[in-house]
Amino acid sequence: MPKQKHGATLKAPVNSGKIEIVSNRVKTPGDLEQIVELDFKTFSVPSGLPTIEIARKALSPWLDNPGTGLVTAYVDDHVVGYCLHCIIPFSEIKDYEQAASAKGLKIDKRGRVIDSIAVQKRYRGNGIGTSMVKRAISDSKPQGTRQIYALCWKGAQGDSYPIFMKQGFKELTTVQGKFGDGALAVYVVKQL
Ligand SMILES: CC(C)(COP(=O)(O)OP(=O)(O)OC[C@H]1O[C@@H](n2cnc3c(N)ncnc32)[C@H](O)[C@@H]1OP(=O)(O)O)[C@@H](O)C(=O)NCCC(=O)NCCS
Repeated sequence: MPKQKHGATLKAPVNSGKIEIVSNRVKTPGDLEQIVELDFKTFSVPSGLPTIEIARKALSPWLDNPGTGLVTAYVDDHVVGYCLHCIIPFSEIKDYEQAASAKGLKIDKRGRVIDSIAVQKRYRGNGIGTSMVKRAISDSKPQGTRQIYALCWKGAQGDSYPIFMKQGFKELTTVQGKFGDGALAVYVVKQL
């Protein structure tokens, strides 16, 4: 089994390609556009985003913000996955506070959120998503973070809930239809 830095283990080489998990940089500037396209392809249906321009606008505050952690997965130097983590955005803090309070938790002021994660469909099931979550956690620790939150999907193949559970995240609350497609959305947290 190929081993990755930070102890993440990938299950199998993807078509014998070389898998790399890279933190906070991209290999070439055009890779950011690949991330925007992956975001668009992955989330355009459930969130109803009509054009790639809107996906670009939605991602740009995160991609341009130095406080954001970016984890990029490459196979043979091609972007196959990305994960963004950041301090909890102001616009979402109330939702996370409500979810945390359901389990008697208070949000730590350095609390972060894994805000977005996606792997290209044909590369899924190879441990890439799990490796990116592990990397996001290990990259967050030096920043004094004690809680990492996420809002994940649950119920169908390709949903992110299992990869968070396997990394020790705990369920806070479940919200029906948050993404407009009837999928269950679950607020989760990992305490470091
Ligand atoms: C969630 C997601 C990032 C996981 O990425 P991934 O690289 O497939 O993740 P992993 O391979 O680490 O784990 C996926 C799990 O599903 C299983 N799986 C098997 N075949 C699969 C397939 N074809 N597709 C998806 N999952 C599969 C895996 O085996 C694994 O479970 P296991 O560890 O018990 O074996 C990816 O499915 C995705 O992009 N989903 C759509 C976007 C999304 O839901 N994002 C989260 C909301 S922000």
